[in-house]
Amino acid sequence: MHPAVKNGAYDVERIREDFPILATPVYGKPLVYLDNAASAQKPKAVLDRLQHAYTAEYANVHRGLHYLANAATEAYESAREKVAAFLNAGRKEEIVFTRNATEAVNLVAYTFGRERIKAGDEIVLSIMEHHSNIVPWHFLRERQGAVIKWAPVDDEGNFLIDEFEKLLGPRTKMVAITHMSNMLGTVVPVKEVVRRAHARGIPVLIDGAQGAVHLDVDVQDIGCDFYAFTGHKLYGPTGIGVLYGKHEHLAAMPPFNGGGEMIREVFEDRITYGEPPHKFEAGTPPIVQAIGLGAAIDYVGSIGKARIRAHETELRKYAHERLREINSLRIFGTARDKGAIVSFEMKGAHPHDVATIIDRAGVAVRAGTHCVMPLLARYGVTATCRASFALYNTRSEVDRMAEALIKARDLFS
Ligand SMILES: Cc1ncc(COP(=O)(O)O)c(C=O)c1O
Repeated sequence: MHPAVKNGAYDVERIREDFPILATPVYGKPLVYLDNAASAQKPKAVLDRLQHAYTAEYANVHRGLHYLANAATEAYESAREKVAAFLNAGRKEEIVFTRNATEAVNLVAYTFGRERIKAGDEIVLSIMEHHSNIVPWHFLRERQGAVIKWAPVDDEGNFLIDEFEKLLGPRTKMVAITHMSNMLGTVVPVKEVVRRAHARGIPVLIDGAQGAVHLDVDVQDIGCDFYAFTGHKLYGPTGIGVLYGKHEHLAAMPPFNGGGEMIREVFEDRITYGEPPHKFEAGTPPIVQAIGLGAAIDYVGSIGKARIRAHETELRKYAHERLREINSLRIFGTARDKGAIVSFEMKGAHPHDVATIIDRAGVAVRAGTHCVMPLLARYGVTATCRASFALYNTRSEVDRMAEALIKARDLFS
């Protein structure tokens, strides 16, 4: 257990000491980093683990017979076990390492999707999807003639499960849906989504790029066919993502990329493929990144997801309170079940200008489309600002953001 959370405490200042970058001054001011939904900062435990992997146990994996090859393979495969435990997968062979969540979704669309989805077949997405969980399905629309249907949200950003269910029909071949919206923060009741889809024999992919960071994930309890997430938002390195897939699917799916490691035998006139997960990990995998992700999972586990969620929820509620006091702000997303993300716009100011101005006060927020253009269109805007919270953020940082926004408002009014 992390010393910061002993005896029921949540010593956020102690947690912050684990993240060297948070001490970086920005324009001579202390950094307030609220761009965590885009990518989170890394604790020393992860940085040290990466360093150790490169300095003490580095070689290519699975191929060598020498000491370092074995050490690297063991560390890489032990990271797979950590991910399997993190998601409560039934077996570690259900965990495929990818470059990121985007590649995990593409893998499913290109293999599982392309095999099953023909002209006129339907794919149901939610209107909240990130482009990573839209574009690969658009490829199937463009190339195979598939039809995409969009499950709506209400004005507050609540996911409308009964409206979603009405979209499921005899031609629905796939549901691909986010666990938690990266703009609204809305949490989707994925277990119920899976229940209703499976009742009609429809497989479900969950985009857990945000969900895996903030919510408990038990893929067996949820019952999903696929779950994708990305390491860099979970305090791990870039260049590593995860696809969980039910073993029966992974075993039946054709491979994605071709190359070394994913084959069993190659002849001049034929090839045979390896077993999952290696069938989907062509070429040299992101070895050290996977090991770093394992360390990030250990780090999060040492604090405890429930404690982190309680802390972040408190920050998010406080941020709503403070931002509501600023009369020219419109907040997007007040769903009943909502994670630690607050999107907003300021009347009369472009979000890029707002973000640039508050950056001079040391406050880092995101501004732009957040890769959710269909969702922005739903709310009639082309961009928003977004503050997103992590386990190391504090109430005083929320105050710093609010003060910077008040100054920006005064400039624009
Ligand atoms: C909900 C959601 N899905 C997918 C992604 C894509 O993650 P990556 O760029 O690491 O593949 C993101 C990243 O912002 C996201 O927020």
